[in-house]
Amino acid sequence: MNMKGIILSGGKATRLRPCTKITSKQLLPVYNKPMIYYPLKTLVEAGIKEILIIVAPECAGDYLNLLGSGKEFGVKLTYEIQDEPKGLAEAFIIGENFIDEDNVAMILGDNIFEDNLAEDIKSFKKGAKVFAKKVSDPERFGVVKFNDKMKAIKIVEKPKKYLSDYALTGLYIFDNRVVEAAKNVKPSSRGELEITDLHNWYLKKKELDVAMVNGVWIDAGTFDSLLEAGNMVKRKKLYEKFESDIE
Ligand code: G1P
Repeated sequence: MNMKGIILSGGKATRLRPCTKITSKQLLPVYNKPMIYYPLKTLVEAGIKEILIIVAPECAGDYLNLLGSGKEFGVKLTYEIQDEPKGLAEAFIIGENFIDEDNVAMILGDNIFEDNLAEDIKSFKKGAKVFAKKVSDPERFGVVKFNDKMKAIKIVEKPKKYLSDYALTGLYIFDNRVVEAAKNVKPSSRGELEITDLHNWYLKKKELDVAMVNGVWIDAGTFDSLLEAGNMVKRKKLYEKFESDIE
């Protein structure tokens, strides 16, 4: 089964005002590349050839100017608009035609992974696969609770009460059923179609695989994590090898 890729790069990023007043968060620089280059790298490294970029309407032209057809990265890029930030799960509804009959790996445009996750992505067959990382600030994220055999038993979006130290990172792999599952998700109290509802749909069927991320993972959506991301990228020369590989 072929695997398509989606980069969800919408939203208003009010947390990063004024820097995001006239541009998209995922176009801000992280050291010497626009932020979106890093999640794009993660998908390209995994051998994914068709990638849909979902963007907010205000900045669609900027993405097109920056990334174009995708030729530079050896992939075919397609663009869609998310009119309102109505949640991560909406990406699979917007992307229905693009996904067609394939499986899909979605990554958030502000998520930066140190690891090359190609094998984890390529080995996917069926169900859902998500990636967890132990963090010190789990309340910022979707969180997964494991039992004593490290099997996932519960997933909650930004829990108010402590649940676990394991955050779910913004990389998700789903089989084709995700499109129909997303259509049945009801908006949460914050008015969004939550990705955690999709995780729980697969969890209930015992088809959710949770892999651990070993290397550094950063959601660059706050000023502190944005700064940290820039330093990490510089220190680890994160982009350099990839750049010489795609040349
Ligand atoms: C989103 C997801 C959350 C996930 C996080 C990873 O949150 O809703 O489950 O842990 O991305 O970056 P957001 O950053 O949109 O608040």
